[in-house]
Formats: sequence, C-alpha cells, structure tokens
Amino acid sequence: MPNFAYINNKFVDFKNAKIHVEDRGLQFADSVYEVIAVLNGNLIDLEFHLKRLQYSLKELDIKFKFKQSSLKKIFFNLLNKNKTTNGIIYLQITRGVQYREHKYENKLIPTLIIYSRNKNFNLPGKDFKGVNTITHEDLRWKRRDIKTVNLLPNIIAANKAKKARAYEAILLQNGKVTEGTSSNIWIIKNNNLITHPANTDILRGVTRTSILKIIKKTSLKLVEKSFTHKQLLNADEVFLTSSGSFITPILKIDKKKINNGKIGNITLKLAQMYSKSCMHG
Ligand SMILES: Cc1ncc(COP(=O)(O)O)c(C=O)c1O
Repeated sequence: MPNFAYINNKFVDFKNAKIHVEDRGLQFADSVYEVIAVLNGNLIDLEFHLKRLQYSLKELDIKFKFKQSSLKKIFFNLLNKNKTTNGIIYLQITRGVQYREHKYENKLIPTLIIYSRNKNFNLPGKDFKGVNTITHEDLRWKRRDIKTVNLLPNIIAANKAKKARAYEAILLQNGKVTEGTSSNIWIIKNNNLITHPANTDILRGVTRTSILKIIKKTSLKLVEKSFTHKQLLNADEVFLTSSGSFITPILKIDKKKINNGKIGNITLKLAQMYSKSCMHG
C-alpha cells in the first residue's frame, strides 16, 4: 500500500484519505482520470496525459484549472514519499461535492485525488511475455474519447477475461474491434499496422499516440481504420498498448492462436523501440 495520497491541497496518510459521501465522482462517476506510467523515476508521456486530461475536463465542463509545473511537483513529491521508482501515478478529478441531483451547480470546487503505486512492467527483455485474450461485446456509451471513471462495461468484460484466465477482453461492436477494456488493440497484416481511428468510439491512448510517432522510423504502413473480428483472428501479429502494459503481445484470442502462440518479430521490434524511447526520453 502507498504511504501517501494527495487530496485537494494536502498530502495525507493513504489509509486516512477520504472524500465526501456526496462527491459527484462517487455518486455519478462525474469524474475524469489519468494513469501515468513511472519508469526509473521518469513520468512517461506526461505531456500527452495532461493534454488528454484537459480535453476530458473540457468535454465534461469540469472547471479545474491546473499548471503543469504544479502538478509535476506534486507527482514527484508523491513518488518520493511513496518510494515509487517503477509504477503508476493515478490522478482523478471529480466535479466536486453537491446535494444529490443530476443537474450540477456551476460553482462547485472539483475534488483532486492523486497517488502512486508500485508496479512491474512487461518490457522487452528476457521476461517479456505475451498474453491470452477473449472477445466481448462492447457495451459502453458513445463518448469513449473522454477518460471518465464510468467504467462498468469495461469491468464486466475484464472480469469475463479474468474468469477465462485471460489478461484482457477485446471489445467488439457490430463485428468490429473497437479497443480493449483498458488498452488499444493493433493488428499487423502484410506489413500494414492497423488500429481503430481515434474518434468517439475509442479512447485516444497516450501509448497509441507515442507509437504513431515511432512507426514513422519503420517501413510499416499505418492504417487507422476499424477492422473486423475475422481480420483480428487472421492477423499475422496482434498486440495491445496502454500506460500500464506498454506494448504487450497477444498470443491467443478466445481459442485462436496468433502467430502460432509466439511473440511476433514486428511486435518485439516496436516494443524495443518504445521502451528505449521511454528510457531515453
Ligand atoms: C478504454 C481504454 N482504451 C485505451 C487505453 C490505453 O490508453 P493509454 O495508452 O493512454 O494508457 C486505456 C487505458 O487505460 C483505456 O482504459
């Protein structure tokens, strides 16, 4: 367990960190969040995370103003206090506290919650692993581009995956792949790298954005286009990306093995390129 959290304007004992029962984050999931990877003490892709945070706040009209430098100071303070060298920073901003009513008052003071947790990452090296996945219907709302804590459909699918001893559930909408419950999904077919376009049907992953930059240095052809369940199963290689999983190869989808159940060369190369860029900035 971490030692400290940062709640509103204070560092507090993690055990005693509390929010109000009428916080709208608790009652309505009226709240946005970010999960930022920390590798060797560095905040990975911080600028992209804060840009997306700004976007989520704006789309939901949550009036929380922040300075990047002030947040950064809090993050590093927490990493220090919690002795986090490798792990994640969790940041959540709720609309604030109000008598229970769907309609919100304009002058609420948003609640700020930040803490860090230690975590080991799946990075290319001798322990680099691929994972099994399942497919599941995408039951979510129509604004998945906003990173809200409104995550019940994700939780249902993720727990189906857990029951099947799988790492992630790949979500399907009208026979097409949108993304994972907490990751973006990519397929490789004949040197084409295909992933769902960043519209309102998926979350614009920060890791996804970083990989788009990296592949410019390769001979892969990027195709930002939705792909079918059939294309998924017939892909040469499949992988997922997220701040918590970096690039993680997918070796099995339901009963179908991908690339004979082995980590593919292109996935490995991309994972190496991405982790190198995280180490060296
Ligand atoms: C639904 C969903 N898609 C994609 C991602 C990957 O986003 P990122 O790379 O910013 O972690 C996440 C991360 O939690 C997610 O929840």
